Amino acid sequence: MTSPSLDRRTLLKGVAAATAALAVPRVFDPAAAAAPASKGIFGYGIASGDPTADSVVIWTRATPPARPGEPVATPGSGLGRPIPVRWQVARDRRFTRLAAHGTVMTSPDSDHTVKVDVTGLDPYTRYYYRFQSLGELSDVGRTQTAGDIAGETHALRMALVSCSNYTGGYFTAYRAIAARDDLDFVLHVGDYIYEYGNGADRYGPAALAGVRDSQPPTETIDLLGYRLRHALHKADPDCRAAHQALPWITIFDDHEVANNSWADGAQNHQPGEGDYLARRAQAMQAYLEWMPFRLPDQSVPHQGTRFFKRFTFGDLGDLSILETRQNRSRQVTVPGVPFDGFVPVGLSPAIDGAIASPARHLPEPEQLAWLKDGLAQRGRQWHLLGNQVMVAPVLYPGAALGAPGYTFVNADQWDGYTADRTSLLTHLAAQPAAAGDAVVLTGDIHASFSCDLPVTSSPGQAAYTSAGVEFVCPSVTSDGFYEVLGSTAQLKGQPAEVVVGATRQAIGAAQQLNPWLRYIDGVSHGFVVIDVTPERVQADYHHTPVPTSAQPDPRIVPTVLPGYTRSLQTLAGTRRLSSAAGPVGPRSDEPRGS
Ligand SMILES: [Fe+2]
Repeated sequence: MTSPSLDRRTLLKGVAAATAALAVPRVFDPAAAAAPASKGIFGYGIASGDPTADSVVIWTRATPPARPGEPVATPGSGLGRPIPVRWQVARDRRFTRLAAHGTVMTSPDSDHTVKVDVTGLDPYTRYYYRFQSLGELSDVGRTQTAGDIAGETHALRMALVSCSNYTGGYFTAYRAIAARDDLDFVLHVGDYIYEYGNGADRYGPAALAGVRDSQPPTETIDLLGYRLRHALHKADPDCRAAHQALPWITIFDDHEVANNSWADGAQNHQPGEGDYLARRAQAMQAYLEWMPFRLPDQSVPHQGTRFFKRFTFGDLGDLSILETRQNRSRQVTVPGVPFDGFVPVGLSPAIDGAIASPARHLPEPEQLAWLKDGLAQRGRQWHLLGNQVMVAPVLYPGAALGAPGYTFVNADQWDGYTADRTSLLTHLAAQPAAAGDAVVLTGDIHASFSCDLPVTSSPGQAAYTSAGVEFVCPSVTSDGFYEVLGSTAQLKGQPAEVVVGATRQAIGAAQQLNPWLRYIDGVSHGFVVIDVTPERVQADYHHTPVPTSAQPDPRIVPTVLPGYTRSLQTLAGTRRLSSAAGPVGPRSDEPRGS
């Protein structure tokens, strides 16, 4: 998501390069970077991810203990000797019933990260894992394999998250997720890290400056920077707890490299920051080192590196993970528009034509074909899509953006690539009931949405054919509509209640233009629990409290956890939303070993 403050940061960047950057040294603070590394060999915690019926990836970083007179092998430093790391996966917390074990070497080549794809496991089973090196043991992590067994239907429940900006606030959403005992995995659909620094480009509440700062303190543009930024997140106690408690399925969006990226550039990649593709390659190297992500089989047709992949859950459903940054056509942009990334529609045939051009793509054509193929497969009721930017059309009334009389779209979303979207939704709508129904799970926009997916739409159009539904999670911490509107000239300095009221008014106006947006919350942060049964998919929204003047920003209070607020669902065969009573109750069954 982009915001007016991002525009401000872009403008300030040239000045910052000449002034503020001098005050904030390019080199990182070795003491701050070394703090987690000094907490022992496994100071960055443990993680697991990408569970299938018989495998799961386990992860850690093993920092070699510094010998006398040696510097600590901090992330990105290239320092430290290779060391052996033993790993164990067991069916019980005390490791009396081992399921798999082994030893690997780690070294500066992988930034001392360790990633093991553990295979030969049993389906729908809970496992425990740990690492050992040079006599030291890691914490014990809990993970589980997917319930993907022909002829069996198991419960399927996940936490949907996105947009965890470290300087944006405490990761209380992660802590609330870690405290639950009813989830199969966490699905993070992008912006796990942000590239911004602590200077003029700082992103988040001013109250956290000096309290919750980024490492490195400047924008991440190279391997050292991205490794340090990932390490910062792995050292966060709430992030660590959620990784320790559950496997994660993740995919990057733009901020794992730079804001509003496309195939060979990004809005936040400037002259002087080097070659964009070299920067992206370094960002991806750090991502693959530091995330429990399994790179899929590269023989499936794709462009560049294949990151998109599919998980299956018996006859209940599947989960296609999309990747929509690496190959996308450059966004349509219009200079002078107050909100970066947004473009006016219905005014200029050139802009409208570019947005609708079939020559422009969001996923590459090979990926779209692979996706459509999966969505047409029979034998599973639900086709879930782990997706970065919103599929549903969202027309923004100009009045809400300070430009009355105009209508805008966010051209970084599927709204900026309407030929691809029409192709996808037409395909979905054409599927017979036997092909099941699609549910898109999205992040990016830092607000909660539940939407029908109209095949064709125009402003205010109340009747439409819906191809499926989309649930959008709020950000973990990143600025949402409330914070963006609160930073505009009209509302800056106003009491929180006034800004909340203005946000809700803008949302009401947006819903009049877009009747398929059945639910929007643009104020709170948190996560969504997605619960899948043969009969329905339900989304429970868990939100931080609405800000008040007495407590304006729950993101800066580490004890304020998101709580349940609202549920919506889609019933099998309807391809539309309906209201739901929530929150969800106990699971219908538990994985083995629970
Ligand atoms: Fe984001």
